[in-house]
Amino acid sequence: MSVEYKALGRNDVNSVESILADDAIDFGDLAHTTAVGADAIFTWDYERSRAGLSKLYERAKSSQWNGSTDLDWSIDVDVEFVAREMQSAIAHLRQRLTDLPNSPLKTWTEDEWTNLAVEAFNWRMSNFLHGEQGALLCTAKIVETVPWIDAKYYASTQVMDEARHVEVFARYLDTKLEGHYPVNPALQLLIDDILGDNRWDMTYMGMQIMVEGLALAAFGFMHAVTQEPLLKKMLRYVMSDEARHVAFGVLSLKEYYEGLSGSEIRERQEFAYDAALRMRDRLMMQAVWERCGINRKAITEMLFEIHKPGVNPFQAALFSKIVPNCKKLGLLDAGDAWLRDKFTEIGVIEFEDAPDTETEYAILDAVAADREAASV
Ligand SMILES: [Fe+2]
Ligand SMILES: [Fe+2]
Repeated sequence: MSVEYKALGRNDVNSVESILADDAIDFGDLAHTTAVGADAIFTWDYERSRAGLSKLYERAKSSQWNGSTDLDWSIDVDVEFVAREMQSAIAHLRQRLTDLPNSPLKTWTEDEWTNLAVEAFNWRMSNFLHGEQGALLCTAKIVETVPWIDAKYYASTQVMDEARHVEVFARYLDTKLEGHYPVNPALQLLIDDILGDNRWDMTYMGMQIMVEGLALAAFGFMHAVTQEPLLKKMLRYVMSDEARHVAFGVLSLKEYYEGLSGSEIRERQEFAYDAALRMRDRLMMQAVWERCGINRKAITEMLFEIHKPGVNPFQAALFSKIVPNCKKLGLLDAGDAWLRDKFTEIGVIEFEDAPDTETEYAILDAVAADREAASV
């Protein structure tokens, strides 16, 4: 490969100026419009030739749950308590940032840290909500653009799943939390790129593998640490759907990538790298820090200052689903292992041998089956 790829159109992917410029983009108060780039494809081949997708479709039909009646919305939520439960996620980060010379965090009281945790909880839930809407629109696009009938059937069930996810996150935010956040610009820029791309498989790569892979890891962490019964049950239900969604992505792309040329695979690697960078930028949570009195530039610089080998300040564990799934698709090592090098540079390659989602899907699917058995 002769010309070095310019990821995100940046000369330097770690440029604080570029990161802040993207983070300052305003996606509107009430609505945001973006162009969808692909052709809608009708197929006249109704043959059910893809057994794996067909099985997922059957599973999806029998795994529908109802956000209105399967969750107990009368539960009172102690937001500070839940936020404190999640503080372990940033304990290491907190120490590193506080230890920096002249760190403004040296004088922070426990109350200020609790306030940050409450804001971060709010921010996470808000961006789960916006990300779920992204998934809803992307899956509707997949129904239109994927050429295979089995995939159209399956994707249609995912549209319903995503509508339900938007519904339950919106309801949780509206009835249990205050002070919601607008969409994180790095997330929305990625969703706009996914919707705008004219290659149908890029919707899968961007949404099913990258955005949903990160969401699944984040939901898993939150589900493991929280004792809040409404959130815990809601996340368990959402995760059993999400695991199926990522499995759908892996299954479809594995088949499609087998027929692509080396240069076409390289384009997919570049797309995956761009998406990973957007995810990394998203996790800097500048809006949260700003609301807590630390300006966006200062926190971004501090985060890079503590970034050194062995110390990743960007919550790298959230890449624990993305990297093994890219590996399973053959993207890590194709073409001189370009993507492996890039994932090494941004400090997430250590997750390559974490369980991929097809393996994990079997576990979460068993959870879903238990739930059905219990409700009979
Ligand atoms: Fe979802
Ligand atoms: Fe999903």
